[in-house]
Amino acid sequence: MAEGTVGLLGVSNHAAWRVERARALATGAGLPGYEVLQYEHSYLRPRTDIPGDLFPDGSLGAAGPDLLGYLRAEPGLTLVAYSPLLKGAYTNPDRPLLTGYDHPGTPPRLQALREIAREAGATANQVVLAWQLGGELPIVPLVGTSSVAQLEENLAAVDLELTPEQRARLDAAH
Ligand SMILES: NC(=O)c1ccc[n+]([C@@H]2O[C@H](COP(=O)([O-])OP(=O)(O)OC[C@H]3O[C@@H](n4cnc5c(N)ncnc54)[C@H](OP(=O)(O)O)[C@@H]3O)[C@@H](O)[C@H]2O)c1
Repeated sequence: MAEGTVGLLGVSNHAAWRVERARALATGAGLPGYEVLQYEHSYLRPRTDIPGDLFPDGSLGAAGPDLLGYLRAEPGLTLVAYSPLLKGAYTNPDRPLLTGYDHPGTPPRLQALREIAREAGATANQVVLAWQLGGELPIVPLVGTSSVAQLEENLAAVDLELTPEQRARLDAAH
């Protein structure tokens, strides 16, 4: 950063406490710290208790309550949300949801999403992206696409404005 090669520092898939520790060490040393946090984040929330090879205590890759609360408390941070469309699972029957989404919180959230998509004349994918873009927390969706049609559908989400009432209904479904 001192040489201007790097504009912002980011970190991905680390426990919120590790990110905070690193930022505190950087501040103490008078150095720039992480400002951009890249984690898996979509409208559906996954279980995080399933251990993996990297994380024996359960997944740290998804933006859970610790990380979202951290973002709320530190307005200078931005979340870059990877896999926001869950690989197409909201609309593509050939892409089923991963097992981490198989829990009682998923059906009410899917129902709210589909209702609001119908009302708004939008696709479920567009509602997910609009929900991330226009919410209280600074979130930049990092969307992957494999066709121009998908790209156009996803980009149109920028112009989709959810009403406060629609946003509240989406937030309240658990
Ligand atoms: N930091 C990390 O650990 C990490 C981890 C994962 C990903 N990432 C980054 O995050 C970015 C996106 O990740 P991702 O590919 O998992 O994101 P994603 O947006 O959840 O999934 C992208 C896939 O969803 C499908 N899709 C996209 N738009 C669609 C639409 N409108 N309708 C139906 N299907 C649609 C396409 O799959 P089909 O080809 O099947 O149609 C597309 O390839 C990548 O650049 C990746 O490098 C980072």
